[in-house]
Amino acid sequence: MALADIGVYGLGVMGASLARNFARNKNHVAVYNYTADLQENFKNLYSTEADFIYAKSAEDFVAKLSRPRCIVIMVTAGDATDAVIAELSPLLEPGDILIDCGNSHPGATARREAALGEKNLFFMGVGVSGGQQGALWGPSIMPGGSDEAYARVGPMLESIAAKAPDGTPCCVHVGPGGAGHLVKTVHNGIEYADMQLITEAYDLLKTGLDADGDQLARIFEEWNRGELESYLIEITATVLAHKDCETGADFVNVIDDAAGQKGTGKWTVQLALDSAAPVSVIGAATFVRGISGEVAQRQAVWEAFDSNQPCLDVDTWNGLTGDEARAAFVSDVRQALYASKIIAYAQGFDQIALSSAENEWSVDLGAVAGLWRAGCIIRARFLDRIMEAYERAPGLALLITDSYFADALRGCEAAWRRVVAAGVVTGIAVPAFSAALSYFDAMRTHRLPTALIQAQRDFFGAHSYRRVDKPGVYHVRWEQQGRPEDRLS
Ligand code: 6PG
Repeated sequence: MALADIGVYGLGVMGASLARNFARNKNHVAVYNYTADLQENFKNLYSTEADFIYAKSAEDFVAKLSRPRCIVIMVTAGDATDAVIAELSPLLEPGDILIDCGNSHPGATARREAALGEKNLFFMGVGVSGGQQGALWGPSIMPGGSDEAYARVGPMLESIAAKAPDGTPCCVHVGPGGAGHLVKTVHNGIEYADMQLITEAYDLLKTGLDADGDQLARIFEEWNRGELESYLIEITATVLAHKDCETGADFVNVIDDAAGQKGTGKWTVQLALDSAAPVSVIGAATFVRGISGEVAQRQAVWEAFDSNQPCLDVDTWNGLTGDEARAAFVSDVRQALYASKIIAYAQGFDQIALSSAENEWSVDLGAVAGLWRAGCIIRARFLDRIMEAYERAPGLALLITDSYFADALRGCEAAWRRVVAAGVVTGIAVPAFSAALSYFDAMRTHRLPTALIQAQRDFFGAHSYRRVDKPGVYHVRWEQQGRPEDRLS
């Protein structure tokens, strides 16, 4: 029997979809699952799709792979991934490659790659985005790992990846070590931000227009025909138009509002703090999920304060009245959403750049934008613009300094401020919109008030400070008023 080109270990929703995708794209695939039930289920459902090779055990699975062996691990991130590595690595030979396609933490990936490297085994941390449909029909793939491992595995990953409008596979060797999982983690952080920004726009529109699901869906459908065109805007329109099959009510209105999170947004913020990357919009989005889950605290606050819901009346808006006011309000919310989204993505790319520099990964930001153009959850029309921006200036200080995005922000700024102000004045929570606007204002402020923080830190902690008018590090002996400052270096 011919040996398989690639093996897929883990036949859950994502693993089964990846296996089918590999096979459909002319790769000979061996499949295995630790529990026989999922493998039997896979065989019953999909054996007619391709000549999959099935295995009775991990040993049998490994024996049915051509050398150097390439094994995709698609199991729950964390202990399960380590368990599979422990089960398989003793069965492998030098040069074989383990490919973790789960949502693993970049630090875990770096640890695993180092440990397996001591056994002359390759380990790749590969971000895969697009959910079950993406895995089946074409995900965005963010492979990290050595050049040698990518040379062997890359063509197979590229064969199953989503294709950008220009036909380019949305799969690029992102960099060594944990670079692939770092980029996927930040992808998910941006996903959190994007979803929260859309949610705030939805809340403003729903409250301001007193709109129902169908009306809101039409607005998002319209927005999806412009610069906001994206998968998340598209599915938002679909979800808002959906009626609950039991009650006939707008579907969103019957859902509990405690938002779940598997943890990739949290990791993004934790990693950002390690890199001092100011991902304030991703952070706001992640914290709102926490707020939504604090049910007891929210109930207590609701009872303790004026529980009248905010009143945003847009029959007058920016000097207009009636239908003109409502139309202007919708346009302003769209602009606020677009501007905030630009900030969120700029922060995410900044985090990737900082982490890449720290780890000496040399991640190509334009290539990352390019592989997010299709297949992934944050796929959006404006990723073409982001890719072009980084192609124009690979060393771009920050995405918003690119002329296209700087012009976009200038064009949206007045609307953006009106919308954030309206949320603040009427008590509609706009944590991500306002985080984006405050980031923009802080970034463009030539002299920040944080000089006062330096003085405070030097007062209570003798943490020293630098001056604007001469080099050196200084400290004031605050207890000896009038004494000149000490120059420490
Ligand atoms: C993707 C998704 C995927 C997963 C989410 C879950 O890129 O295909 O992001 O990785 O569905 O990470 O997200 P939560 O953290 O919101 O549960």
